[in-house]
Amino acid sequence: MAGKIAPSMMCAPLDRISYYVKEFEKNQIEFLHADVMDGHFVPNMMLGTAYICSLRSMTDIPLDIHLMVENPETKLDWFDIQPGEYVSVHYESTPHVHRALQTIKNKGAKAMVALNPATPVESLKYLLPDIDGVVLMTVNPGFAGQKLIPQGIDKIRDTRAYLEERGYGDLLIEVDGNVSWENIPKMAAAGTDIYVAGTSSLFNDKVPLDESVARFRSLI
Ligand code: DX5
Ligand code: ZN
Repeated sequence: MAGKIAPSMMCAPLDRISYYVKEFEKNQIEFLHADVMDGHFVPNMMLGTAYICSLRSMTDIPLDIHLMVENPETKLDWFDIQPGEYVSVHYESTPHVHRALQTIKNKGAKAMVALNPATPVESLKYLLPDIDGVVLMTVNPGFAGQKLIPQGIDKIRDTRAYLEERGYGDLLIEVDGNVSWENIPKMAAAGTDIYVAGTSSLFNDKVPLDESVARFRSLI
């Protein structure tokens, strides 16, 4: 299966958001990744409820909402989550991660659990029947433009093997953090399904976006 691309919209300058959305539509980009940060779970604030609803109204590309907030189960109703959207909550962000994932499923959305770089893949064990996939952070969450934590590549490979050994090979692996031209081939070889494209690929180049997307697709 060819990989799918989820550009990280927090990397789009405010005055170019609609330009990027139109370009992504034209290039049949699969998802728009929207990073929500609360200043508690991560040391930064990004993309609020109004932004998410407004982005949704601009396009039919499904949103991939990445919640980097404490106790996400108490905030899910704020985002008007739609069936078919992808929503990820961090394993580390709540003692009630299962409840949060169940709430996402009940809205008809795809439930993804995100793991920080140091969180072991074994944390997924009792969640497997109730999730659609896992988001592996290959940087510490909170900021775009960081360097890859190299052991993140091994973690993608370990996660792929872990899922397959347990009969969950159809769960998706999404990778988020420094998905750069240099790192994409390694991430692809390790078993990535969805790539969060940030400052080091689609939002970084002086080259036309069509060319960057074609280059991206040739690597995944
Ligand atoms: C990091 C965010 C990422 C980020 C990716 O906390 O979740 O989505 O925007 O940007 P790059 O690719 O620059 O790491
Ligand atoms: Zn993200």
